[in-house]
Amino acid sequence: LHSLSPIQMAKKYFQIYPEERDPIWMNPCDDRRHYNIWSTKKSCYQFPRFLIIGPQKTGSTALYTFLQQHPSLLTNLPSNRTFEEIQFFNGPNYQKGIDWYLEFFPLSNLMDKFNISTTISNVTPALNNNNMNGTLVHNQRNYFARTPPNYLEESMHYYEKSSTYFDGEQVPVRVHSLLPHARIVMILISPTFRAYSWYQHMRVHNLSVALQFSFYEVVSLNIPDKHLLDKITMKRLRDLRNRCLNPGMYAIHIERWLSFFPQQQITIIDGEELRRNPISVMDHLQTFLKLEPHIDYRQKIRYDHHKGFFCPINPSTNGTKCLGKSKGRQYPKMNRLAWKYLHRYYWHHNLALSKLLNRLRINLPNWLVTELSKKS
Ligand code: A3P
Repeated sequence: LHSLSPIQMAKKYFQIYPEERDPIWMNPCDDRRHYNIWSTKKSCYQFPRFLIIGPQKTGSTALYTFLQQHPSLLTNLPSNRTFEEIQFFNGPNYQKGIDWYLEFFPLSNLMDKFNISTTISNVTPALNNNNMNGTLVHNQRNYFARTPPNYLEESMHYYEKSSTYFDGEQVPVRVHSLLPHARIVMILISPTFRAYSWYQHMRVHNLSVALQFSFYEVVSLNIPDKHLLDKITMKRLRDLRNRCLNPGMYAIHIERWLSFFPQQQITIIDGEELRRNPISVMDHLQTFLKLEPHIDYRQKIRYDHHKGFFCPINPSTNGTKCLGKSKGRQYPKMNRLAWKYLHRYYWHHNLALSKLLNRLRINLPNWLVTELSKKS
């Protein structure tokens, strides 16, 4: 019997099945055979219980920091490259695999916040009576690490926010394979203003085409002497236009998520409501996420007149700790030409969104009603 070396065998395999070159990671906690051969240093509790998927510029960072105030929630460790966002499911990071992802959700942080002794005596009296060997803490930690899913009463959860997930083509299938039980949180504001906010964001980051061309020119590509522009500038312009416009085609992206996740696992937050009335939004969100305890966000966030936004309260000083100057920027009002162009551009997308929300029996946000009632 002749056999190829493992590498040659792998090459042959992918020649025959090229479509399998892209991995799809599945959750080891959902299959006992996988779970049994999984590292004993890992725990199912490390996987985030819910994801805030964006899109960008809708208030996702504000929501992320408000949730940090909840006593049962923990966020991922920051990434060196993308700060608070891991951006695992949408880009090249996905190829790095589950272990890479889980490093952002260390078991040690979870256990430090988790009341293990209470849980063990409540849930596993038999094991407790059996007198675990070694030091108690050591055994509790090991035990916690290898406890099968749904065995312990859950009380601390990780969550993640990556605002590029919303419109990533591959993201829903990948999230569903790894985190089939996760809840998905999306935030929508007027796509026109979302696009404008992204354009302003890129200007602050000194993106040459955002500095060189007006917002209207970027979104409409209606540029004097366009034929004189070189290929690189045209490509950068098109890329910026896409990042301004594509996430705002809300219905298309939501339908994609709905083809993988049941509606019960998805919540759609009105970003303008989050900005104006975050206390009530946080109240509904806690119910949707089934968070325990259900806290009163009036004790956790407060309107800051200087910032012009709600901000978390710092318990030691009782002052507010607002997001940095990159969130909630001051910039000129959008000009009428750009508004008219985008109003027309998004008309069918907004109409499709209103039909989708009606189908899902979700109240239309005010901005959507306004945009659909205005003539350009
Ligand atoms: P602008 O800076 O254009 O005003 P994201 O975090 O998803 O990128 O969204 C950034 C946007 O969140 C900001 O856009 C701002 O309008 C909005 N936002 C909503 N609530 C906020 C808050 N409490 N603090 C700061 N920004 C908030």
